[in-house]
Amino acid sequence: MNLLEKIDTNHLPKHLAIIMDGNGRWAKQQGYLRAMGHENGSQSVKDIIETCSNLGIENLTLYTFSSENWSRPKIEVEILMKILVKTLTKDIKMLQKNNIKLNAIGNLEKLPEKVRKVVFEAIEKTKDSTKMTLTLALSYGAREEIVNAVRNISDKVKNNIISIDSIDDSIINEHLYTQNLPEVDLLIRTSGEHRISNFLLWQIAYAELYFTDVLWPDFKEQDLYEAIISYQKRERRFGKTSEQIK
Ligand code: IPE
Ligand code: IPE
Ligand code: MG
Repeated sequence: MNLLEKIDTNHLPKHLAIIMDGNGRWAKQQGYLRAMGHENGSQSVKDIIETCSNLGIENLTLYTFSSENWSRPKIEVEILMKILVKTLTKDIKMLQKNNIKLNAIGNLEKLPEKVRKVVFEAIEKTKDSTKMTLTLALSYGAREEIVNAVRNISDKVKNNIISIDSIDDSIINEHLYTQNLPEVDLLIRTSGEHRISNFLLWQIAYAELYFTDVLWPDFKEQDLYEAIISYQKRERRFGKTSEQIK
């Protein structure tokens, strides 16, 4: 049976986030250099974006480059940046065709000028799209995001723009990079690692977590369907009892 038929499209995660991991190990298994893993990973990115959009997922956030990834060998960082520029330039048409709006979160100032340019161009060209918001986490670290939020909120308190008493969940939300996005419902991590690696710490407070051994370059349509089917079987209780939910 086609897995797609098992998905209830009225009960999709509103916000799906993915830690796309395993490019390097995939390359090693095939006897290739790590760069080939990233190249092939970028094909999975494209496939998964289109699959999500066709399914009707409204928000997709992809962990593309972490603040910690800057510590990789210089040559690997350069390759990753090159692939980013290439795929964004090439795939802008696909985003437009699918009515997808691009968004980027992270310390974007740290990115090379060339990358920033294509990112901002793609954001501008897709700003009126309405079907899905695709957020790329680039030079992203959740702790850095929270530090930033604390600084900005403190500054507003100092200047009497807001009072200490008014600081609550929603004020914090408004000061995160993800201010316009709903909370994450489902977080997928590929490649068999069971960790969060400094991704969306605040936003995944009540997310369902899904881990798969599949390496990112092998992660395709059917793997995504499996993750969503697993999500749809879960009971999200948000602190309540099962009886209260039913
Ligand atoms: C994910 O694959 C891509 C990035 C982190 C940019 P990795 O490059 O981390 O692959 P592994 O974990 O070494 O297999
Ligand atoms: C997390 O993967 C970052 C991205 C997928 C972009 P890593 O491969 O960098 O994570 P760790 O360092 O192994 O936890
Ligand atoms: Mg990794």
